[in-house]
Amino acid sequence: MSPEKPLLVVCGATGNQGGSVINYFLSQPSNPYALRGITRDPSSAKSQALAAQGVEMVAGDFNHPLSLDSAFKGASAIFGVNDFWVYFRNAEKRGEAEAKGENWGALSRDNDTQEIKSIIDAASRVPALERFVLASMANSNKLSGGKYAECYHFEGKAIAEDYGRQNQPELWKKTSVLYVGFYLENYLGPMSAFFLPKLNKTKSCLVLNLGDLLPSVSWPWCAAIDDTGVLVAGLLRSLPGQRVIGNREWLTMLDITKILAELVDATDVEVSSEPVSFDMGDTLVTTDNMHMIGFSAEFGYDGHLAGNEVTEPSKLGISLPSVKEWFQQQDWASKIQTVE
Ligand SMILES: NC(=O)c1ccc[n+]([C@@H]2O[C@H](COP(=O)([O-])OP(=O)(O)OC[C@H]3O[C@@H](n4cnc5c(N)ncnc54)[C@H](OP(=O)(O)O)[C@@H]3O)[C@@H](O)[C@H]2O)c1
Repeated sequence: MSPEKPLLVVCGATGNQGGSVINYFLSQPSNPYALRGITRDPSSAKSQALAAQGVEMVAGDFNHPLSLDSAFKGASAIFGVNDFWVYFRNAEKRGEAEAKGENWGALSRDNDTQEIKSIIDAASRVPALERFVLASMANSNKLSGGKYAECYHFEGKAIAEDYGRQNQPELWKKTSVLYVGFYLENYLGPMSAFFLPKLNKTKSCLVLNLGDLLPSVSWPWCAAIDDTGVLVAGLLRSLPGQRVIGNREWLTMLDITKILAELVDATDVEVSSEPVSFDMGDTLVTTDNMHMIGFSAEFGYDGHLAGNEVTEPSKLGISLPSVKEWFQQQDWASKIQTVE
């Protein structure tokens, strides 16, 4: 009989990042880990699909810290990730807070921080834990000297990371931090309404209508669904103490437009001089994203231009495909519109 495998516990197992970690290890012919996934609902269709593949799916809620003690029990390794937007989207709580004149963005940041602190503290209580990988973001507020103070979906994670480093020194000796880059999947979701260039009337030119700043901002692109597992596996193989910016390549949206042009047989690309509105339908979401863009342009998405020391995956021998390969795998002909 083969000896029991060490247990990897994955937060957010039904989501993009956690799901990628589970899928990566499930796809390995000699998977070194037994896998346990955490979800708020083990009876959901996604949880059941993972359970059918041999993943032990257990209930756990980042807002109920004690539930994490049983969910993390026996772990040799933990991947910690949560989702800022779940709390942010709670319309009832938001209504109550705003009626009292409270800042919902800041409250959502504080909740994000609290959820990750709960993950960190619960991980610190696992006696046999050998490795912890935490998904975090750069502290856009602190690193910009307060200039970009409203990118709450970055800041809350960074505050929790600092908390862990300062308050859980024993856990931190086993910890690496992953800054997941800007999702390539954003090109497939609602944000594509802003990012995706359009073909001109003759279909010979791809036109990018993103104002002055955005086309030239360099982003660390990461396919969250395909790449997070590769990155976390690489961090688990490496010595702890790493802070990695998970990305395939740093490219501007103009660079990406050139990649797309090839795929839709356009011979030219152009940046439109038309005025552009980044209204995302919710002032807080728009402001949060504007601060992310400003911070990324001036200080780097991961804050490296403000002295935040982060490592590229290749430095740890982690190899990811090119951004172009991801674009080649999607069907753009049906997604790219033609200018009216
Ligand atoms: N979009 C980007 O470009 C980008 C880039 C880097 C980082 N991020 C950040 O990444 C985070 C989202 O990660 P993702 O894309 O993997 O999210 P996702 O696909 O929306 O999945 C969220 C996961 O978190 C779990 N979850 C949510 N609330 C929970 C709670 N209270 N207790 C336990 N589990 C909970 C969900 O599980 P159940 O529903 O099964 O309970 C689900 O598995 C966000 O904070 C976002 O800001 C985004």
